[in-house]
Amino acid sequence: MDLTYRPRRLRRSDAIRSMVREHNLGADDFIYPLFVHEGDNVQEIGAMPGAKRWTVEALIGEVQRAWDLGIRCIVLFPKVNESLKTEDGSECFNEQGLIPRAIRRVKEEVPGMAVMTDVALDPYSCDGHDGIVSPDGIVLNDQTVENLCKQAIVQAQSGADFIGPSDMMDGRVGAIREALDDEGFDHVGIISYTAKYSSAYYGPFREALDSAPRVVSSKPIPKDKSSYQMDPANAREAIVEAQLDEQEGADILMVKPGLAYLDIIYRLRQESELPVAAYNVSGEYSMIKAAAERGWIVEKDVVLETLLSFKRAGADLILTYHACDAAEWLGG
Ligand code: PBG
Repeated sequence: MDLTYRPRRLRRSDAIRSMVREHNLGADDFIYPLFVHEGDNVQEIGAMPGAKRWTVEALIGEVQRAWDLGIRCIVLFPKVNESLKTEDGSECFNEQGLIPRAIRRVKEEVPGMAVMTDVALDPYSCDGHDGIVSPDGIVLNDQTVENLCKQAIVQAQSGADFIGPSDMMDGRVGAIREALDDEGFDHVGIISYTAKYSSAYYGPFREALDSAPRVVSSKPIPKDKSSYQMDPANAREAIVEAQLDEQEGADILMVKPGLAYLDIIYRLRQESELPVAAYNVSGEYSMIKAAAERGWIVEKDVVLETLLSFKRAGADLILTYHACDAAEWLGG
């Protein structure tokens, strides 16, 4: 054939492929989500093979391991004792609560590690919603935001570097920014769950925290989170959320889940100059684990290809439960 262009010339060898590679993964792209609980043993999580519920002390070892592999940020999620859960989730701003204690210990033992937190009421609420549910079954916006601000301040006081509002209440980024600034935490950043969809991919996470929405009294409880998390059918709406988050002072925008929403990551990358993060959520993790356990796919190759797809779509940062494995595979 008489061809002028032969794209295969750039695929001929490892050396040439590496010269023209457009995207690379590194351990410092990852934010490592970790679960912590009050118990005195480290627990397996049935729906998330390889992930654990750490005790505060065992958590330190895992954070140190992540640090040694080149990971530079973790995000902490609490499995709160049922006895501490209330309708208004007020345990979330207890200074002696699980998350404040865990942050302080991490900062004492692995001071270089950046710590991100999750702001929402669901781990602390007896009915599993991210906000306060009214007597007639409405998830209240403005009352919830008041509690979220208190939660964010306690987390900042404990040493958090980034506050991560995952609740999807309107106006919460601006309110949290103002509350942090008023208390002297203008150096603490906000990684906003900007485009967080009402997704079935969160199932394994809700098992890990025992936080799925549920009925506990005669109060009507919405069966899902679709009155505040975004409709999976919507893309333009993610731009509206991103513009609001920017105006309200978010430092980093996040898209969640990741894999089924690569188009949203791409759109936010085009629309905003802020760093964009992708959350490779629990259901995405567990599907790879399950297929790999059956020998249907090669875990390492599928994980690295998946993580690279977030970079290619435009993400700067990736929250992933595969973080330590991937860092090891990348040569950490
Ligand atoms: C809670 C929260 C959820 C996740 C992160 N923060 C679950 C939810 O919104 O129900 C999900 C993370 C995952 O699935 O890995 N606000």
